[in-house]
Parts: sequence; structure tokens; C-alpha cells
Amino acid sequence: MGGRELEYVQDAFEANYIAPIGPQLAEFERRFCELTGFAHCVAVTCGTAAMHLALRHLGVGEGDVVIASTLTFIGSVSSVAFLGAELLFVDADRTSWNMDPELLERAVDQVLSQGKHVAAVIPTDLYGQCADYDRIREICDRHSIPMVVDAAESVGATYKDRPAGRGGRAAVYSFNGNKIITTSGGGILGTDDKELADQARWLSQQARDDAPHYEHSTIGYNYRMSNVAASIGLGQLEVLEQRVARRREIFTWYERTLGGLPGVSFAPEAAYGVHNRWLTVILFDEAVCSVTPEAVRLALEAANIESRPVWKPMHLQPVFRNAPVVGGAVSEELFARGLCLPSGTAMTEADLERVATIIRRCLA
Ligand SMILES: Cc1ncc(COP(=O)(O)O)c(C=O)c1O
Repeated sequence: MGGRELEYVQDAFEANYIAPIGPQLAEFERRFCELTGFAHCVAVTCGTAAMHLALRHLGVGEGDVVIASTLTFIGSVSSVAFLGAELLFVDADRTSWNMDPELLERAVDQVLSQGKHVAAVIPTDLYGQCADYDRIREICDRHSIPMVVDAAESVGATYKDRPAGRGGRAAVYSFNGNKIITTSGGGILGTDDKELADQARWLSQQARDDAPHYEHSTIGYNYRMSNVAASIGLGQLEVLEQRVARRREIFTWYERTLGGLPGVSFAPEAAYGVHNRWLTVILFDEAVCSVTPEAVRLALEAANIESRPVWKPMHLQPVFRNAPVVGGAVSEELFARGLCLPSGTAMTEADLERVATIIRRCLA
């Protein structure tokens, strides 16, 4: 926590809004609009819910295809399955580890040549680095396909001086406990499209029709963020800039300390933006250093230090075994070679040194 979260929670208690409605919730949405530049922000229980609401508004359903990054977390694409649409995954490029625009172009052509409809494109901002929004958007616009950015991990990052998420029809952010800022669990849907925002807000509160009794003409969800969670978010927003600065310092520390060792490299930062370095990702080239990420992970675990492999690409997940992929080799290689290192902003120099010592020992 940053420091003032409890004060905001106290305000929520004093206002007696211990519910998914209240002044702190409204203020959190207003401040998130300020941060991202979106005209409308709808705060919900998690990023997965925000994506579900966006895709539902776009009419994604059976018979449609949604094209998405394969190198991502399942929350990015599970709502495509909720809605009964098909997924087509696209590989990452080596510049940003995000959706490769050239492969996206091939993917769109592939779907259209089969006479199918692409209902949305979802690029993920992996580990806090924005995808190449302009290039992806240009392909989407040519075919009138809406782009929904999965900015769950990139709060506080920028793309060409624009805040993360800005550039498509909508963007989805996550405040899960592990994210750069958190509301314990939560998410926001940002958009300039008033109709999309209004419908998402309505659907997130059980789609109640305008009547004094409870009247429903469609099925909605119970997705609205709690006013208490939003209060935590108000405190967190105040320290976002510091959090990004510290994550970037941690990345620089690891890179300076370990980057010169044979067979070791780190996740790149694309020239078009500023990475928030939510997680520092290290790569091992086994042919050079004879070390696998799994061996390092186990050595860290033996010292009670948690690390994790890079996301397992969606096209390799058993649950998506029938979904096709365009490309795939880059994300498969990153999964095989990458490890997410402890990157929490509370880490001290001594903590970082402990991690580095174990990695050096593995490499020796
Ligand atoms: C890339 C990505 N997409 C979507 C999500 C889903 O967010 P949430 O956990 O808030 O549902 C997450 C994080 O958990 C994520 O990392």
C-alpha cells in the first residue's frame, strides 16, 4: 500500500457506502479517466469482467472469430469462450514481445478468406509494455474491426506519449493483487464510446431496466466494483508514478548486475514507449550458459523466493487445443527461455542481491 489508502477507506465507511456504489467509486472512475484520457471509465470486479463487458457490447458471439495475442494470461481471452466465439491466436514479435502486426495482417486475411467475421482484435500489453497500437489499429481500421487493448499489466506505461490502453475502441485494466497498483481485486473498462460505457455499466449491475420494481429484458452480470475497493484504488493512484519509477529501477538493477553474463538477456523496451516494468523478465540461452529457467526457478524456490516462467502461450493450452495460431515460434521460445523475477517495489537492495547471488551461482 502507498500510504493514504486507509484514509480513503475511512471516508467510504463514514459515507456508509459499503456497496458497489458510492462517492469513492465515482471518484476512482473520474481519476482513472484523467490518467488514461478516456472519456468514460467503468470500474468492475476484475479485468476479466471488463473484457467480457467490452466484447459483449461489441456483439461477439457464436460464429465470430476474435483474434488475440497468444502470449498472454487467460483472463485476456476467457470471455471470448464465455460468449461462444472462436479464437485465433497471433504470435509475438521480438521488438516488444507483443502481437506482431505483420502476423495479425495474415491472421485477418486468413479469417476473411474463410468467409468468417472478425468481431474484435485483442492485443495484450505484455508485462507492462504497450503493443504497437498504431500499426495494429491501422490493420483493424482497414477492415472495420474494433481493437480492445488488454492493458491489464501496463497501467502507468506509455505508447508514443499516450497513456497505456489509449488507441482502440476500448481498453481493459486490472487491479488484481499482483498488479502494479491494486484494489485487492478489480478492473476498469476505459473507452470514449459513451454507448459502450453506458451499456457496460448497466450490464455490470444485472441489466436492470428502468422500472421501480426489478425488471429484466436481458441477462446481465454482477460485476460492479465495490466502493471499498475503489477507495483503496484512490490511494494507489497517488503512488502510481513512484511505483513505475521503482519497477524500472529494479529492472535496471537486475540488468546492470546480470546482463553482462554469457547467455543472459532481458526483455526489450520498444523505442515507441515507456515500459512500466511490472515484472522483470530474464532470458537464458541454454546453448551458451547451460542453464534453464526451470533450474533457476527451483534454486530460487529452495531459498523461499518465488519466480515464474513466462506465460505459457494460449495456443499451447489444453483448453485452446482446437484454436489455430499464426506463427507461434517466438512466444514458444520466450516461454522456454524466460523467467519472471521478483519485482515488487518493496524489495530492498539486499533482497535483489539475494536473488542475483542465486542466479550467479546457477550460471557458475
Ligand atoms: C494480460 C492479462 N489480461 C487479463 C488479466 C485479468 O485481470 P483480472 O485478474 O483482474 O481479471 C490479467 C491479470 O490477471 C492479465 O495479466
